[in-house]
Amino acid sequence: MTAEIKTIAWEDGRVVMIDQRKLPRREVYVVCRDYKQVIAAIKKMVIRGAPAIGIAAAMGLALVAGKFRGKSRKDFDRKWAVMCREMAAARPTAVNLFWAIERMNGVVKQSSSAGPDELAGLLHKEAETILAEDVAANRRMGAFGQKLLADGDVVLTHCNAGALATGGYGTALGVIRAAHEAGKKVSVFADETRPFLQGARLTAWELQKCDIPVTLISDNAAGHLLKTGKINAVIVGADRIAANGDVANKIGTYSLSVLARENGVPFYVAAPESTIDRTLSEGYKIPIEERSPDEVTHCGGRRIAPEGVSALNVAFDVTPKPTLRLLSRKRG
Ligand code: MRU
Repeated sequence: MTAEIKTIAWEDGRVVMIDQRKLPRREVYVVCRDYKQVIAAIKKMVIRGAPAIGIAAAMGLALVAGKFRGKSRKDFDRKWAVMCREMAAARPTAVNLFWAIERMNGVVKQSSSAGPDELAGLLHKEAETILAEDVAANRRMGAFGQKLLADGDVVLTHCNAGALATGGYGTALGVIRAAHEAGKKVSVFADETRPFLQGARLTAWELQKCDIPVTLISDNAAGHLLKTGKINAVIVGADRIAANGDVANKIGTYSLSVLARENGVPFYVAAPESTIDRTLSEGYKIPIEERSPDEVTHCGGRRIAPEGVSALNVAFDVTPKPTLRLLSRKRG
């Protein structure tokens, strides 16, 4: 039995999302009534994970039209452009944010004769479509990807690329879930994923809910487990894939890919079309988010490093395409 996890939903003209900062200790929901609250939720990591950020942005922009009190379409278009810019500044790396804004913007452009009320309906519909398409894409990826896993395989994953990071089901975790649902006995090593601990807090919680055996490891343990043959495959998600195939994902993904190659373990990236950025030719052009050093100097709200020490919190890295390609050659 797999429990469905509701990451984000549109309910009575409001956007409701599970507060991922509180998991796994508490399952509480944040209700956003206007787009600024959605932007704040993305910035503060109430909702995170590339596809989920895109869906939140789409729903946030749908709220804009519903709340618009001006009279003319011209007023609306002016306000809309400002709001799209504000939304785009919420986080820099996951391209799904910009992809979703572009898609919502397309609806506004195509409906140039629609008034604000009609637009509100159209934008809401588009946001719901984006959510539904994401879940469908994850299920298709799962069905396709699970064929890469054999009965008894042990999979390593990094960060959280599950239902919580998407509209539902998950990308990397979707592949694992699909293998489990196909009756294969798969188990997972989940990297804790310092400093924000998406692996320890979210991936472990999700897999437990799905009854998939999961063992939490410190990030530093991955190399040892790969070297000693304890892992059959690594599967991760992605925040942005450049046109040449370079992959930006949670910090530590690049090191894992090198360790996997060194040890001949296949390394897979599961991501939907909305994560591919065809406008960037290579991965080094992907903007990499730097977050507050406090996330490194503190753990669980407590300081763990000496006062005054400097800390760097790079949130993503880029795994170059050659690393991935070599790995898939080894597999084949
Ligand atoms: O900083 P986060 O938690 O938003 O980073 C998320 C990741 O890096 C995920 O691995 C990625 O978005 C894939 S989600 C399906």
